[in-house]
Formats: sequence, C-alpha cells, structure tokens
Amino acid sequence: MSTISRAAQFAQRTAHLRASTIREMLKVTQQPDVISFGGGLPAPELFPTEAIARACSRVMERLGPAALQYSVTEGIPEMRVWIAERLTRRFGRIFEAESVQIVNGSQQGLDLVGKVFLDPGDHVVLEDPSYLGAIQAFDAYQTRYLTVDTDEDGLLPDSLERVLERADPFPKFLYLVPNFQNPTGRTLSGRRREKVVRVCEHFGLPIVEDDPYGELRFEGSDLPPLISYESAAPIVYLGTGSKIMAPGMRIAWLVIPDDEIREKIVLAKQGADLHSGTFAQYVFHEYAMDGDAFDAHVRTIAQTYARRRGVMAESLAEFMPEGVRFTRPSGGMFLWVTVPEVDTTELLRISTESKVVFVPGVNFYPGRNVNDGMRLNFSNASEKNIRVGVERLGHAIRVYKGVS
Ligand SMILES: Cc1ncc(COP(=O)(O)O)c(C=O)c1O
Repeated sequence: MSTISRAAQFAQRTAHLRASTIREMLKVTQQPDVISFGGGLPAPELFPTEAIARACSRVMERLGPAALQYSVTEGIPEMRVWIAERLTRRFGRIFEAESVQIVNGSQQGLDLVGKVFLDPGDHVVLEDPSYLGAIQAFDAYQTRYLTVDTDEDGLLPDSLERVLERADPFPKFLYLVPNFQNPTGRTLSGRRREKVVRVCEHFGLPIVEDDPYGELRFEGSDLPPLISYESAAPIVYLGTGSKIMAPGMRIAWLVIPDDEIREKIVLAKQGADLHSGTFAQYVFHEYAMDGDAFDAHVRTIAQTYARRRGVMAESLAEFMPEGVRFTRPSGGMFLWVTVPEVDTTELLRISTESKVVFVPGVNFYPGRNVNDGMRLNFSNASEKNIRVGVERLGHAIRVYKGVS
C-alpha cells in the first residue's frame, strides 16, 4: 500500500496561509479585564438590535418561505437597487444595480477577486502598510506583492508609477483602502485620487478599491471614490454593511461595472456558496429601507467613534513617552502609533501582562520588517477604558525601555 506524507496531502497553496495575529489575539481579549485595541470590532452597544428584530418579523410576515428559499447568486434585486441608489446619492454619478454583486462580507469579495485574477506567482500592488485580511485572502492564491510608498495623504502616485515601470511580471491589480485606511487611519487626498486613477489607466492596471469606512467620517466632507472617475482601467469597488449595521449579518457588496469581470465573479461566487443568505439580505434591506432612520444610525456611530478617537488622541498625547507619534484620523476605526526604537511585537508581550493589547504594525507590511508601528482600534472600548488602556500602554513602553 503506498502512502503519502501529511504535507503532500494538502494543496501547495496552504503552505502560504498564515495565521492571523488578529484572530489569535481575539482569544486573549475574551478575558474581561483586558482592554483591547487589537481587533477591528464595531461597538456592539450600537447595533440596532430591536430594529433588526422588528425587521426579521416583518420579513417573515411579508415573505414567509420566500425569505428562506435559495435565491440568485448576484443578490436579491432589492439590495442591489438599494446599494446602487445609495452610492448614486452620495457621489453624484449613476451607479447601476446590475453592476452590484452581494457577497458574504467584503472579505469574501477579496477572496473572489483573488480567485478570478490571480495565478501562482502573480504580483498584486499594495499600499505599504496594507490591510492584513486582504493579504491573507490573496496569499491563498500564492501571490507576491509589490508595495507602494505612502505618507499622511495615502499612497504616493509617483511611487506607484515607478513600481509599475519596473514591475516584472506586470501586476494583476492595485488594491487600496482610500478612506480611513486599515491599519493607519489615513485617507488618500482628493488631489491624489484622480492621479492614481490616471496612472492605472496609463498602465492598464485594474483597481480594487476597498471602502468599508467611507461612511464613518467625523469631520470634513466625503471625497469621491476612485470608481466615480471615468477610467479605461476597470475598477472593482467593495462596500460593506459590517461597520454601518452589523458585521454578523455578513452583508457586503462589490460594484463591478466591467461586464467581463462581473461575469467571472458571479461564477466564482456560485462555486463558493451559491449566494449570500437570502434571509440576511431581506432583513438588511427591510431595516435599511427607512432611509432617515438608517442615516441617523450611521451618524450616531460616527459621532460615537469621533468621541472615542478624540479621547484616544488626547490620552496618547498625555501618556506616551517623548518621541511617540500617532495619526489622528478623520474617520474610521483605527489609528497608527509609531514608537521609535521599539519592537512592538516584543512590546505586546509586556502590554498583555498589563492587560492591554493592540496589533503590532509589522503584520501589515507584506515585504519588510517595520517593527516600530502599532495599530490601535478605538471603536470598541468605552471612552473610560480607552483612557485607562492608553495609560497602561504608556507604562508598558516605559517598562520596555527600562525607564519605569
Ligand atoms: C479594509 C477592510 N476590508 C475588508 C474588511 C472585511 O469586512 P467584512 O466584514 O465586510 O468582511 C475589513 C474589516 O475589518 C477591513 O478593514
């Protein structure tokens, strides 16, 4: 009888899969006395639980078994229309319901994009640093990364141009998070948006624009998404209900004006899970249909996070040792702290003992060891805990440096 080794039983692509530090850390944060700036969890006390319960009953009364039946891969028509209309209203250009594909969280959207674009060894262009979940999704397709420099206004178009001129093999797409980026909280400036589109258009490079935080703006006005520019380079836009309603619904969407890409995504989605949950889509739509209540809810979330961001920034200014720098994002759920000459992976060990956790920045750099950064989430902890947690963090840094 012939046998094969355990390793050979698995597909080669599994060798590229890495455990998510964030998921691992969520286990630690289950302990009640730990203050977590680690995960990317929305504030659960803001979930509209009662309104969702009412929406569930209305869906069952109105639709009965139809809400529990298989449905089409693209998503229920009501949801696709709602998304197209919302984007049209926000950005003043027409978005068609036909270009919307409902997915099971934008994380599934990233996986499907990987599935239809990436062969082993292909290049993807990323911001440096970039969203860890996207790196995880693309890793499954045995991809490699080219990184573009960023500053406080996001990705640098000149750096993108240089990367593309030298790229071999030429990359399959650029992936970016232009609003309140995960992990840095930075936003791609208005002036750079069109430049990025034009550079990609010049090189014929598709863009994958991931925008989970755009609606959570605390100050200033909305900037147009890249997909709102006329472009010969195809753009796939990802939005999600996770941060404006509840992540457990797993309702998110891709907007794919390019017919050929969309057809391939639909087939990939069909093979993956046939369609997103019919019931969850109807409930989401039922809840979201009351536009005024929905908008008021999103405003409440943004106002709450704005206060938490403010407390975190003030506490950092108060409790961090000399030399520590941090971003003060105008929206979203994260800010980025740079602690010069500190390896934040080591620091996490000390801070975990002090009962405060964060994500070490090195995890967000696919190709380099940048050890002095950390991502702090400010959406999930109360204002009081944010202050206590940042004070503990300041203490942990002093312990690390031997000055405490
Ligand atoms: C940039 C980015 N993209 C995608 C996701 C995944 O969101 P979803 O819950 O829609 O899968 C997240 C979640 O934190 C994110 O920060």
